[in-house]
Amino acid sequence: MTAAVVTGAGSALPATIDQDAVWDGFFAGHYAGLRAARRIFRSSGVRRRHAVANPVDEDLSGWGTGARMQRYVEEALPLGKQAVAGALDAAGLSPGEVGLFAVATCTGYATPGLDIRLAGDLGMPADLQRLLVGHMGCYAAVPGLSAVGDFVTARSRPAVLLCCELTSLHVQPARAELDQVVAHALFSDAAAALVVEPGARRGRRLAAVVARTDASTADHMTWDVTDLGFRMGLSPRVPDVLCRHVGDVVDQLLTGAGLRVEDVAGWAVHPGGPRILDVVRDELGLGEDRMAASRRVLAEHGNCSSVTVLLVLEELADVDGPVVVMAFGPGLTLYAALLLPA
Ligand code: COA
Repeated sequence: MTAAVVTGAGSALPATIDQDAVWDGFFAGHYAGLRAARRIFRSSGVRRRHAVANPVDEDLSGWGTGARMQRYVEEALPLGKQAVAGALDAAGLSPGEVGLFAVATCTGYATPGLDIRLAGDLGMPADLQRLLVGHMGCYAAVPGLSAVGDFVTARSRPAVLLCCELTSLHVQPARAELDQVVAHALFSDAAAALVVEPGARRGRRLAAVVARTDASTADHMTWDVTDLGFRMGLSPRVPDVLCRHVGDVVDQLLTGAGLRVEDVAGWAVHPGGPRILDVVRDELGLGEDRMAASRRVLAEHGNCSSVTVLLVLEELADVDGPVVVMAFGPGLTLYAALLLPA
């Protein structure tokens, strides 16, 4: 079977905002009277993050969804282009050689979409296959990588995966709802891309993917399209549910490859929030040092939804040996991938 090997990565980050400055300059007023809000911002594990729309400069909370989608296209195109160009460059591949271009996003939609516009802009071939993965949420990079990997294996042609999320376009009106506070304290904007090539001798081979959905908890995380942007519903029980399943998922992922938890050299765990990393660490019996890359990404970039785990993977670029990529989201769903040295 032809191996699908990740040979290049690239990312693009919009303007950096400081967590304290964005609290003082906007959310302290937005959530005035909601005492828990300040504490949640402080305990978010986020020091800096990125926003195409800094709420201190412009308040989008009253914007209609149409205006937000228009802004999404304007902002996502240059970021997506930079991330994909960077990944192709790192792989030493030209846009004309790409066989499949997959785009995952849950924060903006348009037709023609990012996939069509970026493919044209970057000079990808006219017979390019495309795939647009919409609304899966924070774990979309992993099913995206799985689909791209299957294409590479089946067709022996290179593929590119782009994740692009602009959560700052979905600031919600001021209401005393703690799940909104949690979302607004954690989420951030970014784009990141991977190039996957058939049979390459350098890079990381996609060895396995495991998915687990607990449909009994489908109401724990929602992402509703409203007239005022997209609104997140988030239960405080999310970390506990992930805790119940993470051991089995990792076991299934590693057992198939004859590996144990101790054999894993790098953990790229989606930092949905600090408590998510705490429960994953404790449930798998890992040392805090194994969470360092995820904590760093949360602190310096925030939770960039589907992009986040790719930023963690970039942090682990120099790690030699098996790497586990793991992300979580609506379903509730856990998605994990095993990458082995090519
Ligand atoms: N919705 C509503 N309230 C929530 C909440 C949520 N999703 N998460 C936490 N809270 C509430 C807690 O119930 C608690 O309220 P209380 O003081 O009345 O008991 C308060 O916020 C503080 O939460 P707690 O977890 O005790 O401590 P904290 O302030 O150190 O951490 C978070 C707050 C949000 C940073 C942390 O709970 C976290 O990381 N949560 C995971 C976020 C998540 O699910 N992300 C998934 C996205 S993929």
